[in-house]
Amino acid sequence: MRKTVDFLIIGSGIAGLCFALKAANYGTVCIVTKSKIDDTSTKYAQGGIAAVIYHPDTYEKHIQDTMVAGSQLSDKNIVELTIRESTARVMELVEWGVNFDKNSSGQFDLAKEGGHSEFRVLHYKDITGLEIEQKLIAAVLSHKNIEIFEEQLAVEIITQHHLGMDVNRRTPDKCCYGAYVYDTVNKTVNTILAKTTMIATGGIGNVYANTTNPQIATGDGIAMVYRAKGEVRGMEFVQFHPTSLYNPKEAPSFLITEAMRGAGAILKDMSGREFMQKYDVRGSLAPRDVVARALDNEMKICGSDHLFLDATLIKKNEIFSHFPNIYAKCLSIGIDITKNMIPVVPAAHYSCGGIATNEWGESSIQNLYASGECTSTGLHGANRLASNSLLEALVFSHRACIKAVETINTIQFREDVPDWDSSGTVNNEEMVLITSSKKELQSIMSNYVGIVRSNLRLKRAFDRLQIIYEETEQLYKKSIIIPEICELRNMINVGYLIIKNAMNRQESRGLHYSLDYPNHTEVMQKREDNL
Ligand code: FAD
Ligand code: SIN
Repeated sequence: MRKTVDFLIIGSGIAGLCFALKAANYGTVCIVTKSKIDDTSTKYAQGGIAAVIYHPDTYEKHIQDTMVAGSQLSDKNIVELTIRESTARVMELVEWGVNFDKNSSGQFDLAKEGGHSEFRVLHYKDITGLEIEQKLIAAVLSHKNIEIFEEQLAVEIITQHHLGMDVNRRTPDKCCYGAYVYDTVNKTVNTILAKTTMIATGGIGNVYANTTNPQIATGDGIAMVYRAKGEVRGMEFVQFHPTSLYNPKEAPSFLITEAMRGAGAILKDMSGREFMQKYDVRGSLAPRDVVARALDNEMKICGSDHLFLDATLIKKNEIFSHFPNIYAKCLSIGIDITKNMIPVVPAAHYSCGGIATNEWGESSIQNLYASGECTSTGLHGANRLASNSLLEALVFSHRACIKAVETINTIQFREDVPDWDSSGTVNNEEMVLITSSKKELQSIMSNYVGIVRSNLRLKRAFDRLQIIYEETEQLYKKSIIIPEICELRNMINVGYLIIKNAMNRQESRGLHYSLDYPNHTEVMQKREDNL
C-alpha cells in the first residue's frame, strides 16, 4: 500500500495525540501506532503533571527546581519557555475534558514530588496518565481529519538515502519524506509519504531487564533517526525510578509514585530504619538521581534485593482518595499498605536523552519533528524533575505544530520514493536467536550500564554489545521483517548510544554516576545552596 498525507504521526501517547489534535485543523493527519492505540507509557503515568498554578508558586521557582534537578545541564532558554507555557498547556488539557482532582474549596489539589520546592503536580488520583490518554483518544477518534492505524510498526523514516543518494551525519540538507511502516496484521511494509513527519515513539526502558515501561518502549524513534544520520544526544542520562514494587514475577514493574513520598511516606532499610538523611538533607524527597543511587548503595551494603517504602505514615483517608490504584495493586499481592511497608526496588524509568530538537520541536532532519520522551529538548539536562515529562510533551507538540503549519503548503510530496524492497529475504526459522539476544542485551545494560558505572564496566558492555550487534545485523539483512527483529535492532542501537555517550562523559553528573569520576562537587554545592 502507498499513502500520502499532510501530517504523519508515529506514536499514540500524549505527544502524538496532542500534535494530531492541533495539526488536524490544518490538513490530513495519519497516526500509526505499533500496538493498540492506548498501549503507551502515557497510560501508566501516576504522579501527574507539573505546572505553575497558584501562589506561592512562581515560574521562577519551577524553573529553578528544574535547573537544579538537571545538575545545571539543562538549556535555560528551553526550561524557561517550557515552564512559562505550562499553565496554558495544562488548561488546554482541561478543555479537552481531562479531569484533575480538586479539594473541597474547588481548587486543584496539587501534590509534591522529589526536587519540587512547591506543591505543583496536578493529578487524577494515582491514574493521571490513564485519564489523559483516554480523553485524548476520545477527542482524536471524533476528529474527521484524523485516521488512526493500530498494529503498524514504523521501520525506517524515508530520506534521500532511499532515493539512492549518499547521506552522512554532516550532510546539511537531510530531508524526511515519510516512513516505511510494517502492517503486523497483513504482514506487508507500506510506504506512507508525508509532508511532515512527527516522531512520538516514547522511551527506551526495555533496554534494561527491570523497567516500569510497557513493552512498546524499545527506543524505535531514536534508533530510526540515528540510522537516518540525525542528531541524537544525552543518552547517558537514563533515569531509574527509586520505587518500583518489588515483585520479581511481574513485567513491567509496577510503579509506586513519588507523590507517596510527597504525602509523607519514608524510605526504610531492611531493619526498618530511615537512611536517606545520610545521603541528602532533603531525605526521601531528594531528586530522583540521588534517591536511586542511595537505594542502590543501601542494597549493596545489606546484600538485599529490595528495600521498603513506609506509607503507613500517610492518613488512611488520603491513601484511599489519592492512591486507590496503588492500594488495590498491593493488596492484590497480599500487602495492605495502610499496615505494612511496601517492598521497593529501583527500575529503569525514563530516558532524558533522545532525538535532538530545537525550541520548535524540529529535529536535525528537515520536515521531521519529534516530541515526548523520544526527544532531547534540553529541558531535563542530566536528570528530569518528576512530572516534567508529560508537560514537555504538551509544550513541544504544541510548538512543533505551530512550526509545521507555517511550512506545510510549501512542501511537495516525493513521488519517486521506491517501495520497500524485501527481495532476497526469508522467514526467520529460529526465534530463539532474537529472544536470547534481547535477554543478553538487557543483562549487559543492567549489569554494566545501570545506576553506577565505571570505565571498565562500560568497556565490557561495549565489547559484549558489539557481538550481538553484528549477529543481529546479519540476521536482519536476510530475514523477512518481523516486529521482534526490528525492535531488537532498535534496542541494540539505543544500548550502543547509551554506552558511547556514557564513555564520553568523563565526570559524574546527575543520572550518570561513574566510580572513576566520583566527584561533582560544584553541582552538589549548588544543590545545597538551593535548599
Ligand atoms: P508514549 O506515551 O510511550 O507513546 C509512545 C507511542 O509510540 C506508543 O503508542 C507506541 O506504541 C508508539 N510506538 C513506539 N514505537 C513505534 C513504532 N516503531 N511504530 C509505531 N508506533 C510506535 N511522567 C510525568 O510527567 N508524570 C508522571 O506521573 C509519570 N509517571 C510515569 C509512570 C510510569 C509507570 C511510566 C512508565 C512513566 C511515567 N512518566 C511520567 C513518564 C511519562 O509517562 C512518559 O514520558 C510520557 O507519557 C511519554 O509520552 P510519549 O507520548 O512520548 O510516549
Ligand atoms: C511518579 O509518579 O513517581 C512518576 C512521576 C514521573 O515519572 O514524572
